[in-house]
Amino acid sequence: MCGIVGYVGERAVTPLLLEALEKLEYRGYDSAGIALVSDGGIEIQKTRGRIADLRRIVESAGDSGCTVGIGHTRWATHGEPSDVNSHPHLSKSGRVAVVHNGIIENYIELRAFLSAHGYEFSTETDSEVVSELIDYCYSGDPVAAVRKAELQLRGSYALGIIFADFPEQIIALRKDSPLIIGIGENENFIASDIPAILKYTRDVFRLDERELAVLSKKRVAVFNELGERVEHVIEHIEWDAGAAEKGGYPHFMIKEIMEQPEAISKTVAPRIDANGDILLGFKSLSDEDLKNIDSIKLTACGSAYHVGVVAKHLLKKWLDIPVEAELASEFRYDDPILNERTLVIVISQSGETLDTLYALREAKNKGARTVSIVNVVASSIANESEEVLYTWAGPEISVATTKAYSTQLVLVELLGIRMAQLRGKLSDCEVKELVSAIKCIPSGIETILSDVQTMQYVASLYFNSQSVFFLGRNIDFALSLEASLKLKEISYIHSEAYAAGELKHGTISLIEDGTLVIALCTYRPLLDKMISNIKEVKARGAKVIAIINEDDIQTGTVADHIIRIPECGEISAPSLTIVPLQLFAYYIASLKGCDIDKPRNLAKSVTVE
Ligand code: AGP
Repeated sequence: MCGIVGYVGERAVTPLLLEALEKLEYRGYDSAGIALVSDGGIEIQKTRGRIADLRRIVESAGDSGCTVGIGHTRWATHGEPSDVNSHPHLSKSGRVAVVHNGIIENYIELRAFLSAHGYEFSTETDSEVVSELIDYCYSGDPVAAVRKAELQLRGSYALGIIFADFPEQIIALRKDSPLIIGIGENENFIASDIPAILKYTRDVFRLDERELAVLSKKRVAVFNELGERVEHVIEHIEWDAGAAEKGGYPHFMIKEIMEQPEAISKTVAPRIDANGDILLGFKSLSDEDLKNIDSIKLTACGSAYHVGVVAKHLLKKWLDIPVEAELASEFRYDDPILNERTLVIVISQSGETLDTLYALREAKNKGARTVSIVNVVASSIANESEEVLYTWAGPEISVATTKAYSTQLVLVELLGIRMAQLRGKLSDCEVKELVSAIKCIPSGIETILSDVQTMQYVASLYFNSQSVFFLGRNIDFALSLEASLKLKEISYIHSEAYAAGELKHGTISLIEDGTLVIALCTYRPLLDKMISNIKEVKARGAKVIAIINEDDIQTGTVADHIIRIPECGEISAPSLTIVPLQLFAYYIASLKGCDIDKPRNLAKSVTVE
């Protein structure tokens, strides 16, 4: 996820763009740049680093006198953070400059096509292809050139485009990625999100899918994909600036919980080809290498480790080889038994967790093959692993992870399914069924997120709890680990995740009248056992909230509250089950008035041992 902004009007555009980009830094902050257009052509200033670094460069260059320009703050996807990979991208001809938020999935074939027509490329990015493609299509009419280029694009894009021949206008175009139009007096704006322009205008509208807007200082003309002029109702924003950075949500955590469907879709889509086959895009690990793997270790910390514990159950079943999940801080000191036929899957949102990085190095030292599942492009763990699968979750600001957890899980599942297919453990038909089920996860999560009131109500009953137990069996126990951590880290309520079958071997002595127990009951083969465990704790005075499958007609007869997850396949259940539990933790912490996005004692990335 990146932040784009554009301005056409009468103000000095440079300070305005810089200030607007600072409001979008939460969307991406590994590099930034601006493009200014005047009668003298297009001028680009861009750099790796934060907006502050860009500001130093721009201000040292002095005022440009320009009043039209576009800007970008980047969250790297294709091409590591660097000066040359940062946006805006100016076509070699100098005629077209582009800022882009999204992923162009067919950029490699477009690059090949343009290269065959004499175009040269200087970056590793997909976005540079857009500027050169528009240039290729340009013959004097900017709108026609953009629409002609768009016909070749596959993927997601919010684009801000300026043409040297038309220094008084900006063109905006979007598909899948958001783009706001801001309406002012003798000035108009584009932005990825409202915070960027709230200082200058509160009158905005969102471009709809495939709409193209032409902005001058006096006018905004919007056209649909058929070229018809369309009008939008202008929304007057009442939010304060702080709230707007969170998209109107009170905390980044709830915003990121709500972003999970989109994050999962963006993570899965580029890895599934038109035939429904899984594309891993590995450069070092061949299909033969993957077939020869005879054991897997998943290693990470915190929530990323919990992804590994969930995935362990699925990978073991699909691959029929030993699969273990191990805490990175233990793994690295445990003298793990590894060799060249061991695959070590390292999971990390930040890609900088020191325990996890050292575990990766231990794995490599012992000759294991390594794949990392990471959210930050070109982070240490990504750079040091043999292969990397990036989660396209976008920047995750809240310390408590949600969308990164969810995208990590589906990515490990895709890796496991592909490996099982290569080993003949899953037929092509079974693979297609599993991939289809994974592609349905976002809509299942959307169904859950459409009714947050239930979790708000249940949280209101129990937010004063002193201790909470999360129980589950098999994959539900793995999920309870994450559910418990979410509650602990943001609400400061002590909680434990417990294998339900183990409770009676001691810990059940802690269950007393009013103790809250949350029973995860979505793993169908052991539902009867879970119901027995619920009865056991109920008999000792516990209050029980059960997370159950949509068609479950038994558990409701024994639990105090039931939370149903939508009907889905076994592979989707973990991704859906965790969502009400994220919401439960969020609403409990919210009712307790906790500092949800920055819990005490915690950091978003633990780069110390
Ligand atoms: C999750 O909510 C926590 N913030 C924490 O457990 C986190 O998952 C852990 O520190 C690992 O971080 P990483 O994914 O960036 O490696």
